[in-house]
Amino acid sequence: MTTPNPALRESATFDRGVISEIQRAAETGIYDIRGWGAKRKLPHFDDLLFLGASMSRYPLEGYREKCDTDVVLGDRNAKFPLHLDIPITIAGMSFGALSGQAKEALGRGASEVGTSTTTGDGGMTPEERGQSKNLVYQYLPSRYGMNPDDLRKADAIEIVLGQGAKPGGGGMLLGQKITERVAGMRTLPMGVDQRSACRHPDWTGPDDLAIKIIELREITNWEKPIYIKVGATRTYYDVKLAVKAGADVVVVDGMQGGTAATQDVFIEHVGIPTLAAIPQAVQALQELGVHRKVHLIVSGGIRSGADVAKAMALGADAVAIGTAALIALGDNSPRYAKQYEELGSAAGFYDDFQAGKDPAGITTQDPELSKNLDPVEGGRRLANYLRVLTMEAQTLARACGKSHLRNLEPEDLVALTIEASAMARVPLAGTNWIPGRY
Ligand SMILES: Cc1cc2nc3c(=O)[nH]c(=O)nc-3n(C[C@H](O)[C@H](O)[C@H](O)COP(=O)(O)O)c2cc1C
Repeated sequence: MTTPNPALRESATFDRGVISEIQRAAETGIYDIRGWGAKRKLPHFDDLLFLGASMSRYPLEGYREKCDTDVVLGDRNAKFPLHLDIPITIAGMSFGALSGQAKEALGRGASEVGTSTTTGDGGMTPEERGQSKNLVYQYLPSRYGMNPDDLRKADAIEIVLGQGAKPGGGGMLLGQKITERVAGMRTLPMGVDQRSACRHPDWTGPDDLAIKIIELREITNWEKPIYIKVGATRTYYDVKLAVKAGADVVVVDGMQGGTAATQDVFIEHVGIPTLAAIPQAVQALQELGVHRKVHLIVSGGIRSGADVAKAMALGADAVAIGTAALIALGDNSPRYAKQYEELGSAAGFYDDFQAGKDPAGITTQDPELSKNLDPVEGGRRLANYLRVLTMEAQTLARACGKSHLRNLEPEDLVALTIEASAMARVPLAGTNWIPGRY
């Protein structure tokens, strides 16, 4: 065995990761496609802290005083807005990326705690519709699985313009996951890699999107709230245009947001962090006089009740979770550590969503592997997790003297770093200073 030369100095520019990626690219001629969100360290909710009450504020008693959590989404135009018991929703994840069992488990878990789940690129499955009390139907550039009957069966419609993991790009579903059922729903050949479109074929900008939104309202008898989902980039302008086009709800997905599969170069180099996107979105809504009227859902790296409470304090009406919901279902659990190792992965890693060999039965279309997920048990786990997120967020809100999660405000927060302070537009801890502001 050779002993490393102690005088060998690692290069900060060409570190070991960079060297091995160049070697891999040179060897294979293939760029890296993976799942999950950005892995680089970014300013995030961990860089914010709450100012709990003491003399100048009055906290609420945890076990005696209420802190409500309900939220109504999309009551600007729709006859039937969504009434959710908690402001934590399940983000759109496609049947194709996920097994039928996983989609069903998401519906079960969300319904148990009174929140919504969302379809995805690939259409609505009967299992998912059957088990979801509130189901948001995605209308995507790919149009896979899109049909007016399913639009009418949904409780809300989400027009997807982009995702935080890949704003400006389309999704991928590799051939190994295009089984007969997935191919049938997408009207695609089996076993062939599918690359979704990056933009909608029937409009080019907000003016014709406004016409499309009216069309969708007409098809669904003006009953359902219309969401517009954007990947976080030029968020201030995008949110203004989404409101102009007629959205009842705007979903802003930051660059930490998960994906089933896309190019690594996209995930790591396109978009802005969730933390930076929220104040831009809120500013746009406030300037139009529609903050809290056109509702804001934020996603991208939400993991805990603290993240939920911080997103809401910055001005979100609700949040959406993707990756964390899959972890809660039981994906990549240590139970399957050996099988993940055999796949060249590790329990707890989400790079391999696209490979379709998930032993936990969640991100696979293999009928045998899919059986490993019991939708009832998965749903129970998800419901438990959502309850914990809610209780954590309530704990923080009470400590700030708030009797409803929606009453959290930027004034309750400080930042730990200059970057987070500038992005989130809350003062650096112990100062009144917000870089670029005062
Ligand atoms: C497995 C998987 C599949 C996804 N499929 C879709 C999709 O079909 N449509 C979509 O708009 N977003 C899709 N997303 C993105 C999520 O809707 C959401 O924006 C993102 O997961 C939020 O970030 P988080 O994973 O950090 O919670 C997917 C994400 C994952 C992890």
